[in-house]
Amino acid sequence: MYVNMQPFLFHSPTKILIGPDTALSIAEIISELNAKTPLIITDSNLRKAGIVEGIISAIKQANLPIHIFDQVPPDSDLESVEKAVQIAKQNHCDIIIAIGGGSVIDTAKVANIGISLSANALDYEGVNTITCKLMPLIAIPTTAGTGSEVSAVAVIKDKKQKSKLLFGSPFLFPDIAILDPQLLISLPPKLTAACGLDALTHSIEALSALTANYISDGLSLNSMLLMFKHLLTTIKDGSNIDTRLATLVASTMAGLAFTNAGVGIVHALSHTIGSRYGTHHGLTNAVFLPYGMQFNLDVAKAKYALAWRSLAAQEMEKYLGNESAITKYIKANKSEADEKEAAQHFINIVKIFIQECGISINLKSIGITNLKDEDILELANIASTDPAIMFNPKEASVQEIAKIIREAY
Ligand SMILES: NC(=O)c1ccc[n+]([C@@H]2O[C@H](COP(=O)([O-])OP(=O)(O)OC[C@H]3O[C@@H](n4cnc5c(N)ncnc54)[C@H](O)[C@@H]3O)[C@@H](O)[C@H]2O)c1
Ligand SMILES: [Fe+2]
Repeated sequence: MYVNMQPFLFHSPTKILIGPDTALSIAEIISELNAKTPLIITDSNLRKAGIVEGIISAIKQANLPIHIFDQVPPDSDLESVEKAVQIAKQNHCDIIIAIGGGSVIDTAKVANIGISLSANALDYEGVNTITCKLMPLIAIPTTAGTGSEVSAVAVIKDKKQKSKLLFGSPFLFPDIAILDPQLLISLPPKLTAACGLDALTHSIEALSALTANYISDGLSLNSMLLMFKHLLTTIKDGSNIDTRLATLVASTMAGLAFTNAGVGIVHALSHTIGSRYGTHHGLTNAVFLPYGMQFNLDVAKAKYALAWRSLAAQEMEKYLGNESAITKYIKANKSEADEKEAAQHFINIVKIFIQECGISINLKSIGITNLKDEDILELANIASTDPAIMFNPKEASVQEIAKIIREAY
């Protein structure tokens, strides 16, 4: 598949602890990292739902002091980063524990820049601007989607500029990620679906990205298969620990893949629309994914065909039953197809899967109405400069990006 592959670096320094109740071993992990004064960063919903309390008790039992910032909003911004920095500085915290979704983990990463470097985190926006190690960070995801617990990036909103700021550096990899499926039981079905489709977008975009490689492909493909097998069951029954764990691991694998291989045009569009209209990141990715894939089809067909054939080789009826639209589509189209046909089957099944997850693939369904042609062109212009687009396997002109937005509208 790769002819004359260029040398590549695969970087994944985060230690990953996986399994039910693993978050309760937090005190030993803090001690392993030689820290004594933790700052917990989380959000108010998670505190109200009681998700953080077991971890707080475990820290208290170890006689460690605790400081908490629990006001991270969805799609976090520079103001909450600043508040977290202040609490850490006032209390001389020496380790951060982020418990939450991507918004919480990204807030923790950017706050860590401000705390560790005693600087305005905004000065470190962009890629590779950090030059030394930061304070230890433990990431405990409560959604299965962003992969931020193993990624070297953070995305934070600048409310004044109505834009999303990207911070990217190997120093942003969390030291330890704890994947504890118990913490996801309360995640509602719609968010379970939206986050799962964020992870699916990571695996598909990483698979076809310009800097994809043998290792990221393995992670992308296995992540995608786990999502196809287990996301629908998890949406229907959020208390199923086995499928919660499978989708959480899938999301982390997709995170490892994209942080090394990159994403693409779907993320560029999702960042642009999300910062302008406040739509959920995973939901916005889900809307654009089939259109972005169709645009990339001619250059990504070998990878999409590989994904289709991997999926078609699974006995999906064991996971989804014979009546599922996914099982039926695979059975009806299983016979050997040429590469282009196999690639098109993959796009079709992704479309069916998103709809089975209860998500309509148009922007109107996520609340974006009244888009005029001048708005579309302006959005396409912004998306054309989003850092995610540089990994897309095919160059896209502003007009081509505008066409994708019109199709998704
Ligand atoms: N750094 C990265 O690698 C990366 C990758 C993709 C996305 N992101 C960013 O992540 C953010 C989105 O993160 P997200 O999709 O995880 O959503 P989120 O963190 O914004 O959370 C969404 C909502 O779900 C709630 N929630 C979270 N876990 C819950 C649980 N277990 N039970 C009940 N409610 C729960 C939160 O309180 C919040 O209201 C965006 O800002 C996006 O840009 C970052
Ligand atoms: Fe994403």
